Amino acid sequence: MKKERTVSNHSADLKSGKDYSKYFIPPDLKEAKKRGKEEIQVVQFGDIEGELKTLGKGKTFLMRTYGCQANEHDSETIAGLLGSMGFTPTEEEREADVILFNTCAIREGAEDKVFGEIGRLKHLKKEKPELVLGVCGCMSQEEAVVNRILKSYPHVDLIFGTHNIHRLPVLMRDAFFNKEMVVEVWSKEGDVVENMPKVRQNGLRAWVNIMYGCDKFCTYCIVPYTRGKERSRRPEDVTAEVRDLARQGYKEIFLLGQNVNAYGKDFTDLEYGFGDLMDELRKIDVPRIRFTTSHPRDFDDHLIEVLAKKGNLVEHIHLPVQSGSTEVLKKMARKYTRERYLELVRKIKEAIPDVVLTTDIIVGFPGETEEQFQDTLSLVEEVGFDSAYTFIYSPRHGTPAADMEDNVSEQEKKDRLQRLMEVVNRLGREKNEALRDQVVEVLVEGESKNNPDVLSGRTRTNKLVNFRAPKDCIGKLIHVKINEPLTWTLNGEVVEKVEV
Ligand code: SAH
Ligand code: SF4
Ligand code: F3S
Repeated sequence: MKKERTVSNHSADLKSGKDYSKYFIPPDLKEAKKRGKEEIQVVQFGDIEGELKTLGKGKTFLMRTYGCQANEHDSETIAGLLGSMGFTPTEEEREADVILFNTCAIREGAEDKVFGEIGRLKHLKKEKPELVLGVCGCMSQEEAVVNRILKSYPHVDLIFGTHNIHRLPVLMRDAFFNKEMVVEVWSKEGDVVENMPKVRQNGLRAWVNIMYGCDKFCTYCIVPYTRGKERSRRPEDVTAEVRDLARQGYKEIFLLGQNVNAYGKDFTDLEYGFGDLMDELRKIDVPRIRFTTSHPRDFDDHLIEVLAKKGNLVEHIHLPVQSGSTEVLKKMARKYTRERYLELVRKIKEAIPDVVLTTDIIVGFPGETEEQFQDTLSLVEEVGFDSAYTFIYSPRHGTPAADMEDNVSEQEKKDRLQRLMEVVNRLGREKNEALRDQVVEVLVEGESKNNPDVLSGRTRTNKLVNFRAPKDCIGKLIHVKINEPLTWTLNGEVVEKVEV
């Protein structure tokens, strides 16, 4: 039987059979840009009750997560919600009662992967019609993607976006019982929802959102549309969560936001910024606190001052530059120049001499000249990044850069990426080489992926270290002497255990 579809907005639980198209709020990029300054409400997530609490009893779910840490952490919340409904996780596709794709829209390649996977599951869905197949995350917030799924992937049962994750219990019930495609995507961000259940995937490192959304509208980027406007969590909620995690024994707190330096700018009743938050968090008894991502534009002196106090605030800053050319930065709407970025780096290095800086770089932005690309190479050398994520520009539908004239060939873009990676890798090797015979503090995470006899962990600067040590070191902070620095990892030997 051909599936009908139920499309609903957040104020109504609609049943099929009528024309509900007028209720469907599709993701709309133009609408997303008309952001108001209206107050953000903080709402507490209530208990899951009644039939929703037992809906998943005896049923399993499998989740595939793509994209950044924000998505990884959302998946922990989704797993928490499903767990509260009685579902248990599985890695077996054929066994799963629910398969969810938590998707990423940042580049075309990320989207292609997901469409490939959804297409591949068509057969399984045919064999097992009771399977609930869901798509959520950033792709769901894109109008074109939702339309493509409605048209070409009718075996999908459920689509929900990034703003209504807390609605999952109800949506899941609808997906199970209605036999129709359930689509609920809010084009407008909602409130900040506190206290949703979470199943954390890592017992040592815990992600903590400090803010949601992004207002920067870099011209190439889809995130401000898929994640909505900047909304900061209240400082007391963030500190309470970090304190609770510290009490539970987590060793490392990873603060998340698309632009953590804009933290607090949306408070109307409070003068409180990211520097203030870090100054508060550093007093909490947890060995390490790190954060991502910093936009250079909002990185202020107060924050540098606080980070320089060190303690549990680690000496690693991921500071995406995107390009070393002021003209390209202008076209990207990054709102800083090459000189201002370098000045910021100078200030940071002065305050924190052993800081490790990493970055993100896009090559082949529309119209980027060889000379402008050379500016990127020279900036990378000048800063001396320890590592960098490097990308070829990927046009995103609806973003301003997608309409810019682009006369750079694909081959040229690939070639630039290659040349950039050579410089980045050489610098990484040199930086690591400087650690030879040095003793570093390592948080031991577990067995190395490639060799169970070897343990691995990370330095305060987030570098991966492999070493031989007894298994009871896992979860502890130890000192390791680096004796074999490589390009991406460090090999070493244990010196002593550190009290934690
Ligand atoms: N909020 C973070 C970045 C999130 S996206 C920040 O501003 O630093 C992660 C990285 O993906 C970006 O830093 C950028 O380098 C890259 N990126 C974003 N949009 C892209 C696009 N359309 N094509 C290629 N790379 C892109
Ligand atoms: Fe995208 Fe720019 Fe926002 Fe980062 S700051 S998420 S690159 S728009
Ligand atoms: Fe991707 Fe969305 Fe993160 S587009 S990079 S998953 S915010």
